[in-house]
Amino acid sequence: MSSNSFQHDVLIVGSGAAGLSAALRLPSHLRIALLSKGDLNQGSTYWAQGGMAAVLDSEDTVESHVADTLVAGAGLCDEEAVRFTVSNSRSCVEWLVDQGVDFDHLPDAAKEFHLAMEGGHSHRRIIHAADRTGRAISEVLTERVLAADNIEVFPHRVAVDLVQHEGRCEGAYIFDRRSDRVELFQARAVVLATGGASKAYLYTSNPDGASGDGIAIAWRAGCRVANLEFNQFHPTCLYHPKAKSFLITEAIRGEGGKLLLPDGSRFMDRFDSRGELAPRDIVARAIDHEMKRLGIDCVYLDISHKSRDFLEEHFPTISARCLELGIDIGREPIPVVPAAHYTCGGVVVDTAGRSDVEGLYVIGEASSTGLHGANRMASNSLLECIVYAESAAADIAATIDRAPQPHPAAAWDESQVTDSDEDVVISHNWDELRRFMWDYVGIVRTNKRLARAEHRIALLQAEINEYYSNYKVSNDLLELRNLAMVAELMIRCAQARKESRGLHFTLDYPDLLPEAADTVLVP
Ligand code: FAD
Ligand code: SIN
Repeated sequence: MSSNSFQHDVLIVGSGAAGLSAALRLPSHLRIALLSKGDLNQGSTYWAQGGMAAVLDSEDTVESHVADTLVAGAGLCDEEAVRFTVSNSRSCVEWLVDQGVDFDHLPDAAKEFHLAMEGGHSHRRIIHAADRTGRAISEVLTERVLAADNIEVFPHRVAVDLVQHEGRCEGAYIFDRRSDRVELFQARAVVLATGGASKAYLYTSNPDGASGDGIAIAWRAGCRVANLEFNQFHPTCLYHPKAKSFLITEAIRGEGGKLLLPDGSRFMDRFDSRGELAPRDIVARAIDHEMKRLGIDCVYLDISHKSRDFLEEHFPTISARCLELGIDIGREPIPVVPAAHYTCGGVVVDTAGRSDVEGLYVIGEASSTGLHGANRMASNSLLECIVYAESAAADIAATIDRAPQPHPAAAWDESQVTDSDEDVVISHNWDELRRFMWDYVGIVRTNKRLARAEHRIALLQAEINEYYSNYKVSNDLLELRNLAMVAELMIRCAQARKESRGLHFTLDYPDLLPEAADTVLVP
């Protein structure tokens, strides 16, 4: 075998909560390759602030968490998936604690967790590590993965496309960003845990890299995708010229934070009786409406009624970051705007994370499990990552002995391509895509805006595909190609939905249809 081809039992693409957990849940006799396109901690997981929803309080119930999720999902959740996820929430928290994750406890209570409140939840049920929950989970799981003898870690490796034999997935072509070579990774089972696609939008809370790679890769391999019109805009990202993608957690509103207009007046109660704790789609739309009505650049989030000690204990990251930028959250309101935050749709999978392609599993934000419906409830996504990592790992463990050894596959062929001559094509198209997605496929849509976006994406894709056929791949080109693919799928899903439901709001069809139906695209 040549030096740029690798064989493992299981190939996991992605090292966020989903990928790391899947690697650790698999039996230790399996040889696992775990890939990430940057350093291991560069996905969205690391930046998660609020926490993970779970039924832990003695007054809380699975039924109540299920009911809240169904309400937030605006009639489109798959109740079986919701029940499956929520029923596993307590055991997943226990597993994380066993791995070493140190969640916050109530003062003087060694065993009882401090549970936060977020929009859409009728109970305090968000387990967290101050406002850096993602970092706590990510660091502990990464440490565990690095210590595991059966897991080989490959950072700075970018999955390009899958390798299939007679329809079955047997590996992937992987671009090594350090050597600029494309390698062949073969395995008897492949897991895509590549996160979401919020980089399709000009303003986003997501780190670089959220370019929907796994969704585009699975679609090209023959998997159905669903509900990609439901892009969640987080209502409160910091508005400051020096703050790129910095989130102000919803848990601040859970502690009584109020949204204010520049004149200091509240407005959320004009939009929903739940006020600041209405589901995210409603809060983001209300802010967007007020910003457009008044021609203002941002609104404000005020938590200054809480003591400085409380703020520093519960929101140390936000307090410190705001202070660096000259905003003292204990004394003044925080300027905030909505930004693209979460991709509710994705690759269609079942409760074991199985996609339409045999041997291919998709978990985490890249998947569409049915949990989120038309709007993800706050802090349900880390939960989904951990739950589906476990069920996918169990399914792989139970079936891998019957999976054939990968067949010989062709090496990546670069004989027909040359080095890129003008990288400006990539950067220009990247900017253009994110700008028109923001303007035409954003919080409020219309038929005309979507038609403009459809026209633009077709032009961009023609140019990108031509570029891809003629030049050697790079990370930027791969991300742009995937983002354009996913943007097209988002536009098609949005055009297919002739109603306003959850996160999809269009002025041309402002009402809800009587029957809720998924938007499913078939390759
Ligand atoms: P990610 O954590 O995004 O990881 C993706 C991984 O895939 C990365 O390792 C990346 O390098 C790799 N990858 C991607 N493409 C490729 C490729 N082509 N080749 C190789 N590797 C690839 N959710 C909650 O439940 N609670 C919260 O409090 C919360 N807060 C959030 C705060 C912020 C700022 C953000 C951005 C999100 C938040 N979310 C929260 C959402 C949640 O963090 C994500 O949905 C979740 O972490 C996604 O995990 P994941 O494992 O699917 O993907
Ligand atoms: C937040 O902390 O507000 C983010 C929670 C989430 O996205 O689930």
